Amino acid sequence: MSNMLEPEQLHIDFGLGSPPDYSTFHPFPTTRFQGSKYKITDWIWENIKFLSFHSALDAFGGTGSVSHMLKQKGKQIVYNDILKFNYIIGKALIENKGTKLNERDIKFILTKDKNINYPTFIQDKFNGIFLS
Ligand SMILES: C[S@@+](CC[C@H](N)C(=O)[O-])C[C@H]1O[C@@H](n2cnc3c(N)ncnc32)[C@H](O)[C@@H]1O
Repeated sequence: MSNMLEPEQLHIDFGLGSPPDYSTFHPFPTTRFQGSKYKITDWIWENIKFLSFHSALDAFGGTGSVSHMLKQKGKQIVYNDILKFNYIIGKALIENKGTKLNERDIKFILTKDKNINYPTFIQDKFNGIFLS
């Protein structure tokens, strides 16, 4: 782990006091993150499910796909990633147990604000390469 981040940024530790509520559980939101293990989470589970364990460390959590799968299986997860955007995704997707976006939130996020000057670095540098 890097010592460039504050200790509280190094991991997200959440104890699942009770199992997740499967009736309101949502599928993992897929991304195009290179190296995501999303497509093999079923295979991972098939190969570890015989182990007796209560908690797991996802030290290189990335998209959180492995943490998300294990969370659904009722395990306590410590998610970690050096990248801040992954850390934030981990907070929202893995640590978060109750907050959901509603239609109004989503509209707000997806609506361009004329008072904000949006940077175009990614669009300028990677258009036609990674983005379609
Ligand atoms: C292959 S990806 C993770 C894949 C993840 N299991 C998934 O399904 O998305 C590897 C991750 O390790 C993180 N990483 C690399 N070096 C790290 C370090 N020294 N400490 C913590 N995270 C690190 C990267 O930021 C990247 O998100």
